[in-house]
Amino acid sequence: MQEKKSIHGAWASRWIFILAATGSAVGLGNIWKFPYITGENGGGAFVLVYLFCILLVGVPIMMAEVLIGRRGRQSPINAMKDVARESGHSGKWSFVGWMGVLAGFMIFSFYSVVAGWVLYYIAGMGVGDFIAIGSEDAGNVFNGLLADTQTLLIWHSIFVVMVMLVIVGGVKKGLENAVKFLMPALFVLLLVMLGYSMQTEGFAKGWSFLFHFDVSKLKWDSVLEALGHAFFTLSLGMGAIMAYGSYMPKKTSIGGSVIWIAIMDTLVALIAGLVIFPIVFTNGMDPGAGPGLMFVTLPVAFGQMPGGQIFGFVFFLLVGIAAWTSAISLMEPAAAWLVEKFGWHRIPACTVLGVIVWALGVAALGSFNFMSDVTIAGFNVFDFLDFMTANVMLPLGGLFIAIFAGWFMKRKMAENELAMSSPLLFNAWYIALRFIAPVAVATIFVINLVEKLK
Ligand code: PFF
Repeated sequence: MQEKKSIHGAWASRWIFILAATGSAVGLGNIWKFPYITGENGGGAFVLVYLFCILLVGVPIMMAEVLIGRRGRQSPINAMKDVARESGHSGKWSFVGWMGVLAGFMIFSFYSVVAGWVLYYIAGMGVGDFIAIGSEDAGNVFNGLLADTQTLLIWHSIFVVMVMLVIVGGVKKGLENAVKFLMPALFVLLLVMLGYSMQTEGFAKGWSFLFHFDVSKLKWDSVLEALGHAFFTLSLGMGAIMAYGSYMPKKTSIGGSVIWIAIMDTLVALIAGLVIFPIVFTNGMDPGAGPGLMFVTLPVAFGQMPGGQIFGFVFFLLVGIAAWTSAISLMEPAAAWLVEKFGWHRIPACTVLGVIVWALGVAALGSFNFMSDVTIAGFNVFDFLDFMTANVMLPLGGLFIAIFAGWFMKRKMAENELAMSSPLLFNAWYIALRFIAPVAVATIFVINLVEKLK
């Protein structure tokens, strides 16, 4: 078969692909969510299970997404359709791409609200609002922000524009240029923060909180949470990684690249934990503070520490960059599809997308104030979007991708695309994809749903 080319362009090199996909993976999930769910689930044992999930479920499914994308060389909707047809199956498999695009909109709308909080905190740290702040005041600042529709709207809108401005530039001028600068900046800032937290007296305590594996603390719930989070953090199940894979150079090893992405994503999450927990312990605070850990506990901790204003600013800047490069990948599949389907330029495509996600985001941020009494199935809009995507749509999307690549796509196609050096490695991947990943995902999917709806 003749090699297909993407009409959107291609990454300049393997490393740019790795950086872009790592940019997608490393986001609020790593720095905001991972530390707080680890805190809530008792630390080390949870981390161990999470690492297993990344390796046994995340890595095989990510490889499948990249290979389908690269084979199809189009947006996830069209790539799924073409690869299915090429394997002699119905083009209706494109529904996986559709579900992904929908999930992208839904995740974006609450992601952008949280990213807006982060931008607000960057500004606040920058002007010294949090110097010597007490926990009550920090709680008031956060709750005050949630109640202040206008401020939330401003920061949410700024974030939507920031993201769309990158996507408008296309694969080379937009995405590639952005990740080339932002990702190294993110790594440097993270290492600066690690250096800072290593000086604190709470470092040893933070370390043992993360790495002391006390299996007796492990509950079934935590296992589910770890598996679900592995999905979210690697950006799997919604086509973001598939879209990035469609711009990947042909002669690049998929397995080797995916391992790098998974390692970097995991390292960032662990380092974020090693930054946050020592600071929390040094200041005698509670690691299990939940979602407010980053927005209430940390500002108090920074406010009490020497140099805290600068490091607090650096920290939130880092989180902002991480959120930005992730949000880009949430919208790229839809943008690529509009360009393919209607032959549009990226400017109208991004304008349309921007308006839609902006409006959805307004509904999500309204959950904290003017729409606080609106509920869907017992959730406010913000929590509904989070629940539906992380607990339903991503696992379901991942399950379909694993089933498609493992059971429907021609084996030969996978062998050619992956071009693995050893048949043993290929078989290990194939078994993980056909059996381990679907069973694990189906299990969490069902149990999660039953638990939540109980
Ligand atoms: N992986 C991102 C994070 O950990 O914050 C979230 C995410 C981005 C999920 C892109 C899905 C996605 F397509």
